[in-house]
Amino acid sequence: MYRSLPKGTMDEDVLAFLSSIQHDQSILYYDIVGSEAHSIMLKEQGIISLEELKKILAALEEAKKNPAVVETEGAEDIHEALEAFVIKQAGMGAGGKMHTARSRNDQVVLDMRMKVRDDINALCASLIDLIGALVKQAGKNRDAAMPLYTHTQQGQLGTLSHVLLSYADALFRDLERAYLCFGRINQSPLGACAIGGTSINIDRKRTAVLLGFDGLVRNSVDATTSRDAFVEYVASLSILSTTLARMAEDLIIWSTAEFGFVELDDRFSSTSSAMPQKKNPDPLELVRAKAAVIAGRLVSVLGITKGLPSGYSRDLQDLKPQLLEASTAAIGAVRVMKGVVETLKVNKKRMLAVSKTSYAISLDIAEQLVAKGLPFRNAHKIVGALVARAAAKEAPLSEITVKDAAAVLKKVRPEKKLGAEELARIAKGMTPARSIALRRSAGSPNKKEQDEMIKAARTKLAGYEAGVGKRTKFVQGALDNLAKTVDKYLAA
Ligand code: ARG
Repeated sequence: MYRSLPKGTMDEDVLAFLSSIQHDQSILYYDIVGSEAHSIMLKEQGIISLEELKKILAALEEAKKNPAVVETEGAEDIHEALEAFVIKQAGMGAGGKMHTARSRNDQVVLDMRMKVRDDINALCASLIDLIGALVKQAGKNRDAAMPLYTHTQQGQLGTLSHVLLSYADALFRDLERAYLCFGRINQSPLGACAIGGTSINIDRKRTAVLLGFDGLVRNSVDATTSRDAFVEYVASLSILSTTLARMAEDLIIWSTAEFGFVELDDRFSSTSSAMPQKKNPDPLELVRAKAAVIAGRLVSVLGITKGLPSGYSRDLQDLKPQLLEASTAAIGAVRVMKGVVETLKVNKKRMLAVSKTSYAISLDIAEQLVAKGLPFRNAHKIVGALVARAAAKEAPLSEITVKDAAAVLKKVRPEKKLGAEELARIAKGMTPARSIALRRSAGSPNKKEQDEMIKAARTKLAGYEAGVGKRTKFVQGALDNLAKTVDKYLAA
């Protein structure tokens, strides 16, 4: 249909290679509403007549109601297919005018911007749900003592709420990245035409308003060329997916029989075809894998855009599947993770039992010696030696005797005098509850800090919820208005 200069039809293999139809289905809706707004503007500017507009809108409405009527066989892309359908229905006299002052170059990026802004809103809403679920679980697990790990070795004691809130904080940053990206995505490129604008008297602001954009990508070269906001979106997804992968990995480890800290709900577990006892964390494993998949898509997106000259090049078409699939994968992973967190069964008893016998209280004991005036280096040596003695007996530090303490002090000889009874008493008294209560720095696991972090997270969540809700309503409101305007013209 676009072949005004080239002769005959396109080579079949080339057409198959070139066609983006397969990935265009997800932008068909946006192509329709974009075309409606553009056609309405053409009529309002006196470029097409009311009668012509009505014919175009009737065809577009038909396609909106039943997308299957748009014949895609042999089409290079959905823009071509939709225009061909409109011409078939409305006739060349009217339908042939729809592409006035427009190009596929501003059209495709318009569609992608509308698709991605919807995806960003969906992603943000899902992230808010996930963070909400984490905060709720944190509230129930402020007293759930557990070891915190560095190098996957027990480090210090903490609480489950403390770790869950650490995920929430990381996810808040992921949310903020997506949230801010929306502002750069929701700008209209429509009317930039092929690259250099048009001599026809169009009104770009009108189409931007009709489609719910916050403003214009003013420069027509920029509007048709730039994809930075899309790259930014995939980069945000990629970073988010690494946060999710960390959560997934923690939960996978904690749900092993060896740890037994948590159990996944059956709805979020899979089983083995061979081993009847198995309850596998497959959904979490796929969340973990998505971090690699999305990172791969980010590399593709950067590679495709790197080194392109200004102006549309067909390379940009290959961004679409990368972007759409990264988006679908990330939103899916967030939703799965929300369900996992919400339904997570926590074995506080098991976590406490492990905490009670853990040497992860060593630093707390050392800090008590520091409070007595010992240099930290001495304290580090003393507690290290205590742990060695306890480990030799295969006993926890609570079973350290005065004799053990005396032997250690004889060997280490601290700068400041310390009695063996006192050392043994400090070591024995360091229960998990005390270890956690003593931690007083901002952001540490003590109960007051947990309460404050939970409160702050709730306030922040409410702010994002209001913001995302407002944006979603604004876009939906604009599209509802557009539908009303379409009806008004059709009835005119
Ligand atoms: N199918 C193309 C894409 O997805 C649409 C734009 C084609 N423009 C062009 N001048 N060939 O990017």
